[in-house]
Amino acid sequence: MSRPKVFVTRLIPEGGMALLRPACDAEVWPDELPPPRPVLLEKVRGLDGLLCLLTDKVDGELIDAAGPGLKVISNHAVGYDNIDVAAATARGIPVGNTPGILTETTADFAFALLMAAARRVVEGADYVRAGKWRTWGPMLLLGHDVHGATLGLVGLGRIGQAMARRAAGFGMRVIYYDPYCDPEKGAVAGVEARSTLDGLLAEADFVSLHVPLTEATHHLIDAQALSRFKPTAVLVNTSRGPVVDPDALYEALKAGRLAYAALDVTDPEPLPVDHKLLALPNCLVVPHIASASWATRTRMAVMAAENLLAGLRGERLPNCVNPEVYGRV
Ligand code: DGY
Repeated sequence: MSRPKVFVTRLIPEGGMALLRPACDAEVWPDELPPPRPVLLEKVRGLDGLLCLLTDKVDGELIDAAGPGLKVISNHAVGYDNIDVAAATARGIPVGNTPGILTETTADFAFALLMAAARRVVEGADYVRAGKWRTWGPMLLLGHDVHGATLGLVGLGRIGQAMARRAAGFGMRVIYYDPYCDPEKGAVAGVEARSTLDGLLAEADFVSLHVPLTEATHHLIDAQALSRFKPTAVLVNTSRGPVVDPDALYEALKAGRLAYAALDVTDPEPLPVDHKLLALPNCLVVPHIASASWATRTRMAVMAAENLLAGLRGERLPNCVNPEVYGRV
């Protein structure tokens, strides 16, 4: 009997590959960069399963190019804004993602960005490497205290809550804005709800974004929102780049309406090296690595492989973003 045909759009950690190899004929895209669109359209033809990354656009055209045999799409990420889920659902195809397992690792990194911004860690390292460190100085590279400051969380889902726990350990006051979180049910001890985004932004010393990218959150942080920040505030983004309007962010940082931005995600992504945000001394950009620990990336690969294999066997995906497809059978 022929084995299911699968395309994996980049080499994933061995934990995931070890599950796939015995169970299917898996072709892995070997390059460091994602397969270009025309190549991907070609590669999906006749597939039973697709294991993709957040860098692959999976829409109706791609799903149709795969043909009627496609049984499952498994994303190697918790976010799935790269996938047209409605198009997959309309064709009866379950879509998998990797929730839960990257929560703590991502929150660790968001907190690392917050600390780096507050205490000027990157500037300090650059200063030393540039040979500028000549003596201890009472005014040298002064930053802002994290303890006692107010952290504003935009989104109090799994990662937002993990961030709140870290902040509590650092003696911060934590407030959040999340229209989808019922303060009665979703409350985290010591974390206070704010009923408007503007209200949260006006109060927070640090603002950390923990929302998925949807139509409602696209450019949630726009010029109007940025005008509400304290001029001393720091913005941390480990969610998705387009949640922040990059032009408005540039203007706000340049004009000093916001002190600093620490971004793990950008719009566009990757950010071109000559992008204006990179010319600002008060903007730190790192390459979408918040979940990038060995353990977490391995767990993500295993979960993505498990979702894929379940779909190939015709079983319910352990983590499915469109469970409504199962209502159809
Ligand atoms: C995700 O999983 O959505 C992250 O952005 C990458 O780990």
